[in-house]
Amino acid sequence: MTEMTPVTDTNATAADAPKKMVLPDAQTVTEVKHWTDRLFSFRVTRPASLRFRSGEFVMIGLMGDPDPKTGKQKPLLRAYSIASPSWDEELEFYSIKVQDGPLTSKLQHIEPGDEIILRPKPVGTLVHDALLPGKRIWFFATGTGFAPFASLLREPQTYEDYDEVVITHTCREADELHYGAALVENLKTDELLNEVIGEGFWKKIKYYPTTTREESAKMGRITDLMRSGEAFADLGVAPINPETDRAMICGNLAFNLELKAMLEDWGLEEGANSDPKQYVVEKAFLD
Ligand SMILES: Cc1cc2nc3c(=O)[nH]c(=O)nc-3n(C[C@H](O)[C@H](O)[C@H](O)COP(=O)(O)OP(=O)(O)OC[C@H]3O[C@@H](n4cnc5c(N)ncnc54)[C@H](O)[C@@H]3O)c2cc1C
Ligand SMILES: NC(=O)c1ccc[n+]([C@@H]2O[C@H](COP(=O)([O-])OP(=O)(O)OC[C@H]3O[C@@H](n4cnc5c(N)ncnc54)[C@H](OP(=O)(O)O)[C@@H]3O)[C@@H](O)[C@H]2O)c1
Repeated sequence: MTEMTPVTDTNATAADAPKKMVLPDAQTVTEVKHWTDRLFSFRVTRPASLRFRSGEFVMIGLMGDPDPKTGKQKPLLRAYSIASPSWDEELEFYSIKVQDGPLTSKLQHIEPGDEIILRPKPVGTLVHDALLPGKRIWFFATGTGFAPFASLLREPQTYEDYDEVVITHTCREADELHYGAALVENLKTDELLNEVIGEGFWKKIKYYPTTTREESAKMGRITDLMRSGEAFADLGVAPINPETDRAMICGNLAFNLELKAMLEDWGLEEGANSDPKQYVVEKAFLD
């Protein structure tokens, strides 16, 4: 693990206190947007060497507090899905703010011009390579589990590989849907994407947001809504079938496990990079 002591910029004068930290794997924050008191998104510069597949995650973070005895600081890193697509010049992230969380209690205060640490080693299972060809892809998210799908919804391959793209997002409260809703809406007027992927590509998307603890246009857990058949009727699609449907899941552990069991009951099998099949799953956070 890297350890750092604060160092002074060589061009700085004595008046430049406090001392500026030189971060390992530093990237500069270019934009920050607060969506609610517990959710925000931000963009950072992209390391020239970083290649990733849409849907993957990296470790990002800040320097931790100095050790009271030695004064040394260690990087405090957490897994984050890259919310921007693989072709984007910058990197976007969509983050929770855990008030007593070691990282996000601090990260929520970043501003443009600040630096974060970004380890350029992308990994993950929510990638097209882990799925066999199909007709319809389902992206199932709860909470910040929307992040990898924010990447995949802007990935041309998603529309090359599938005739239909269903994105479901279940949150407790209505304002927690705003980041995803704005992203899906903006696809319609995104000139670059319409030019690169094809005019009107976004018509392949069926967006299905639901809330569980606050009134909204659609209430209920997506699992219950599919079990009852209501979600399929609302979306105007046939129930999930291993011949035609592929799925990616990203949410809390209970959600992932419940949905995984449902998909298996419907005949889908879990795939991996080395062994592509009908669905893949990744945790949105560790419990
Ligand atoms: C593969 C993977 C990808 C991830 N991608 C993202 C991402 O894109 N965006 C993101 O915000 N987080 C993501 N996380 C979670 C992230 O790694 C951190 O847990 C989160 O940033 C909080 O860090 P912390 O140090 O403040 O608190 P931690 O000590 O890490 O977490 C404290 C508690 O907060 C809750 N919590 C943590 N993360 C979340 C969350 N995202 N949503 C709701 N509750 C949470 C959990 O109950 C956890 O026990 C991902 C985790 C994994 C394993
Ligand atoms: N969201 C908030 O407003 C809020 C505020 C303060 C603190 N917190 C805390 O933050 C942590 C994470 O909260 P979160 O809301 O981001 O994520 P979450 O608890 O994972 O819930 C996100 C969504 O997933 C649904 N869900 C949970 N289990 C499911 C399952 N098995 N099948 C289908 N859907 C399922 C939830 O429905 P249900 O509502 O039916 O469970 C909710 O709509 C929790 O510890 C929470 O106490 C959350």
